Amino acid sequence: MKIFLAGGAGYIGCHTALQLLNNGYEVVIADNFSNSCPEAVKRVEALTGKKIALYEIDVQDGAKVKEVFAQEQPDAVIHFAGLKAVGESVQQPIRYYRNNINTTLSLLEAMEATGVKKIIFSSSATVYGEENPSPYKENMPKGSCTNPYGWTKSMMEQIFQDVALTDPELSIVILRYFNPIGAHESGEIGEDPKGIPNNLMPYITQTAVGIREKLTVFGDDYDTPDGTCQRDYIHVMDLADGHVKAVEYLNREQGIDIINLGTGTPYSVLELVNAFQKVNDMKVNYVIGTRRAGDLPVCYADASKAARVLGWKAKRGLEDMCRDSWNWQRKNPQGYRK
Ligand code: NAD
Ligand code: UD1
Repeated sequence: MKIFLAGGAGYIGCHTALQLLNNGYEVVIADNFSNSCPEAVKRVEALTGKKIALYEIDVQDGAKVKEVFAQEQPDAVIHFAGLKAVGESVQQPIRYYRNNINTTLSLLEAMEATGVKKIIFSSSATVYGEENPSPYKENMPKGSCTNPYGWTKSMMEQIFQDVALTDPELSIVILRYFNPIGAHESGEIGEDPKGIPNNLMPYITQTAVGIREKLTVFGDDYDTPDGTCQRDYIHVMDLADGHVKAVEYLNREQGIDIINLGTGTPYSVLELVNAFQKVNDMKVNYVIGTRRAGDLPVCYADASKAARVLGWKAKRGLEDMCRDSWNWQRKNPQGYRK
């Protein structure tokens, strides 16, 4: 079975490509490298000993996507291609809406034109919004988002719901990711953010490796056990395995379904920092700062539906996440740029 990964050179895409290849699937990647580079794909090929058909295209370009579909005849699509920096989306909402929504529409049009019926979409826990209490369950109504990035995910979910009604043969799985961190255990592939990281783990690893002077913990006065925010951190390799299970599910069922990919266990910022220090036997320079606008105190999944429907559960713990994130950063202090 051949899977087309839109945005497959990125952080989650390349780990998923690796696990798909390891499970006997063929992989085609289309990426414009706006937030990634071809080196990640080369490393996946080296790790697996298998070839990936790689196309450098903008997935917004429907004609090009249709050409690749005609050439490769994929059986299913995974849609990772999107812009994802929350702060940037507030500064550049038009660019975010255009890129994220257009990539989705051009993939759906190409599927319609070529008879591809199966797609997995990368959504986010952010769509639960502020109104719902954790643990988040898939049957809760979506909430209101605090930024354009989140709204693009919410709107794209609605697009998939509407399209699902038009064709009973379609099989659509919306995966709502929680907080992916970690890297493949080889340290050959991992998260390589451009510029100053927004997310916690890359900020920790860049501080540990000396690129950043210190980590600022955004607030210790929340109503949580240690006062810092709690999140559902999930190892990116567990997330990749979740996609392999979701592809199997696409083959079993038609219609549309929404599934959380999280561990169901929240950890605080300080718990993550302490686990990182302990497992890697090092100090991370940090200070306590003020709250970051838009942060929720607590966000974690009810992970029971993924277990029930996909037969998937996260296997790797916080220590694995901290060890593997550091192994990647230590081996690649400048990311893929060497
Ligand atoms: P990423 O930026 O590493 O990967 C996205 C990939 O899409 C990149 O390789 C980028 O170059 C590509 N891309 C973007 N626009 C494109 C376009 N128009 N044409 C072709 N390629 C394009 O991000 P990631 O962390 O791997 O995230 C993958 C998906 O999961 C994204 O849709 C993201 O919003 C979603 N998601 C990520 C997280 C997270 O914490 N990483 C959480 C929830 C959801
Ligand atoms: C953020 C986004 C979310 C997006 C996700 C993945 C916001 C409000 N939410 O989630 O929409 O899907 O990234 O891209 O931006 N922290 C620090 N210091 C730092 C960085 C983070 O203390 O330098 C804290 C944050 O306050 C938070 C936790 O670490 O409590 C995790 O932050 P982050 O990695 O940015 O993820 P989220 O905010 O959960």
